[in-house]
Amino acid sequence: MGKITVSTLDKMKAAGEKFVCITAYDATFARLVSEAGAETILVGDSLGNVVQGHGSTIPVRMEDMVYHTACVCRANTDAMVIADLPFMTYSSAEDALSNSAMLMQAGAQMVKMEGGVWLSDTISMLVERGIPVCAHLGLTPQSVNVFGGYRVQGRTPKSAKSILADAVEIQDAGASLLVLECVPAHLATDISEKLDIPVIGIGAGAGTDAQVLVLHDLLGLSGHSPKFVQNFMAGKNSVQDALGAFVQAVKAGEYPREEHTYS
Ligand code: KIV
Repeated sequence: MGKITVSTLDKMKAAGEKFVCITAYDATFARLVSEAGAETILVGDSLGNVVQGHGSTIPVRMEDMVYHTACVCRANTDAMVIADLPFMTYSSAEDALSNSAMLMQAGAQMVKMEGGVWLSDTISMLVERGIPVCAHLGLTPQSVNVFGGYRVQGRTPKSAKSILADAVEIQDAGASLLVLECVPAHLATDISEKLDIPVIGIGAGAGTDAQVLVLHDLLGLSGHSPKFVQNFMAGKNSVQDALGAFVQAVKAGEYPREEHTYS
């Protein structure tokens, strides 16, 4: 496949080719995810849930993210690695810069942060200093206590308008990618069509440029199953087969289907 960069992803969007992102937190799974043909690996702060056993991503610390990013980057071959900035590590521009630098020096090619308009100055500042940014909108898990639970976002005209405005603003600020989580499919499709940068969906329907799932969810290991998750391990004999099936299903437009989608 060759080393994936942000320009590979831009070209795939322009050509209408779907790409794939899977989370990984250690060397073994990073190698398997990369060998399965996923273009991007997300070292997500979802490791707070699936690795550390917390009930949310809020307890995850900067040193956890640096440690797991380094583990992933040692074994990854071709995929582009995006690493999450955890809760409260980018609330000031100074913190965002020093913490992003740690993730980049651990081997990430891009950092991800949750939020919209309020982050635009921070995004511009990071990009000017050589740190590519993926923004994350919709159901942003670090704000679970503001939302009062893991709830679909963008269902009212006002909230849909605000997510769209945030998306445009973060693109204008210089973000290279956008993750849209748990929003109605029509809104995600609209945003993906309006933006030039690639949009990666999770629980956001089939109209985005790419799909991401948490590794443990797609392998059926999480012990819970949100509506948008498919267990790709079902009927497979190996983790490699399950990862390959997810990659192929996204690329063929066979995942997500209607039953995985919010309206
Ligand atoms: O932390 C994570 O794994 C994420 C995905 C759910 C997009 O942010």
